Amino acid sequence: MLAASSTGEGADPSLRGSFQQRVRSHYHAFWYHLGERFAWSRGIYRERPAEELHDLSGVQYERIASLQRRFRIRFEQRATQATALRQYDYLDLLDQGWSALRLPRSTGGTVQDIGSSNFWYAPTLYTFFRPTKLIGVEVEGHRMYINGYSRHDYAQGYIQDLSNTEFHVQDYRRYCSPAHIITAWYPFVTPAPVLAWRLPLSLLSPLVLFSQVARNLQPHGLFLMVNQGREEATIAASWCGKVGLISCGSCELRSSLRPRLPLPVLSCWIRSPA
Ligand SMILES: C[S@@+](CC[C@H](N)C(=O)[O-])C[C@H]1O[C@@H](n2cnc3c(N)ncnc32)[C@H](O)[C@@H]1O
Repeated sequence: MLAASSTGEGADPSLRGSFQQRVRSHYHAFWYHLGERFAWSRGIYRERPAEELHDLSGVQYERIASLQRRFRIRFEQRATQATALRQYDYLDLLDQGWSALRLPRSTGGTVQDIGSSNFWYAPTLYTFFRPTKLIGVEVEGHRMYINGYSRHDYAQGYIQDLSNTEFHVQDYRRYCSPAHIITAWYPFVTPAPVLAWRLPLSLLSPLVLFSQVARNLQPHGLFLMVNQGREEATIAASWCGKVGLISCGSCELRSSLRPRLPLPVLSCWIRSPA
């Protein structure tokens, strides 16, 4: 197993952060560790479905209609308009990335998602991959919202109609379970986003995280990563290379549903045969 100290990750200055960042990290660490002790739940949180989408631009309308036809889904029948739009957006990105990289379409198998937040995009992964089993793994799954519900409560609502789907509150760095496809949307590879998510820098260890990916990935499995812009994708790619993952290509994605800068970069990886 690759440990941070044996690989030099612990000494990597790009992961330590500046003095100010380390001070902020201590503050977040206090709340993070306090939160870890309380697994509070108010019960399943169910969103009030929008039923119909309103006030879409022409471009949004066209793209959503095409995704609805091809994937036979209507996210708005289970989610609010805001959530449904985000779900269509991730589906759009997956769909674009898959065709740009000419990846093979297969269904079934176990799909794991790393750092799922409250797993609002579980229906998207389920629709796109049609997995036999879908698992979201989130280290801060008990974080509470202002309405008293936790991420875990929301996740239970998002996955309630998806068979064989689970949400695990766990640190992926210690999550040992085989998978055919592993996805990571915006994994932490630099200090700033960790702090922006109000988390301590102790969670920033891409080498340990990606080596766990390499261990969990089945032969012929795919690791799919989305990063925020080329610069972040390049940093993430260099960590993936260090753990022996092999690139099958990457591409920038232009969302017509929720345009954002820098453009998200989708990359695809396989395990080294050795
Ligand atoms: C930038 S956010 C992205 C959230 C989500 N993937 C999305 O696209 O909306 C990164 C997420 O990864 C989670 N995370 C960070 N390190 C983790 C780890 N070692 N194991 C599991 N989750 C982790 C964070 O708590 C956070 O929710």
